[in-house]
Amino acid sequence: MLIDLSKRSEQAELMDDFRDTKQNLRLVFADINRVNTILGGSSITINAVVELMQSQPKDMYTIVDMGCGDGYMLRRLSAYCKKQNIEVRLVGIDLNAQALQLAKEFSSNYDNIEFHHQDILALKSTDFNCDIIMNTLTMHHFLDLDVITFLRKFNQLASIGVVINDLHRSRWAYYLFKVFSLIFIKTKTAKIDGLISISKGFTKSDLIQYSKSLPNSKHHIEWKWAFRYIWIMKPNQLN
Ligand SMILES: C[S@@+](CC[C@H](N)C(=O)[O-])C[C@H]1O[C@@H](n2cnc3c(N)ncnc32)[C@H](O)[C@@H]1O
Repeated sequence: MLIDLSKRSEQAELMDDFRDTKQNLRLVFADINRVNTILGGSSITINAVVELMQSQPKDMYTIVDMGCGDGYMLRRLSAYCKKQNIEVRLVGIDLNAQALQLAKEFSSNYDNIEFHHQDILALKSTDFNCDIIMNTLTMHHFLDLDVITFLRKFNQLASIGVVINDLHRSRWAYYLFKVFSLIFIKTKTAKIDGLISISKGFTKSDLIQYSKSLPNSKHHIEWKWAFRYIWIMKPNQLN
């Protein structure tokens, strides 16, 4: 029988208990980063962030990655901005202390990246005011109610915009990932969590529904290969 993906799953991922050792987490993030590179997931976020920067030229941008994991996206963004002579201050936020240790280790040669241990759900309106917030493969970890809570907060904190890059909940994605993971994914955690993640992902109508809770922002939601949605929000602009 085919899997029923008509509703978002509420199953927790193995990663969500934050009990993985640093050693195992290192391998899990290597898997996640490999998938993102092969299937183009990271470029989708970078391109959207660049689009937001171009929409409001400034001498310097502060960009926060909410749920930064091992900091891979921030390092990619830092390298891109360096090449393009764009000055940026990059901030990574995560609740997993082990992931942050890895992020700091891997980013020791990047003097424009800093990391903070923080629960996204406990953000205050004075925490991490910035130009742009990015959030890649993190939103699906949360229940619908929490998604709306932090999206409202993100829209208050980011003056230029918010970029969400997350998974399309689809049977095609689910079964193709099973085949893909046989070849490209090494850890059991990433194989299992990959499938749970897809079942916790989103349909376009889920995202449109959430966007109705943010009526003062302008929204652009687009499907991208491979089975991603990119959602760009510009706060304080009417649709
Ligand atoms: C699948 S990983 C994605 C990491 C990274 N953004 C990427 O694209 O590779 C999801 C991340 O969200 C973090 N996370 C989950 N719940 C969180 C919370 N309440 N506050 C902050 N980070 C959280 C996890 O620790 C994990 O590093």
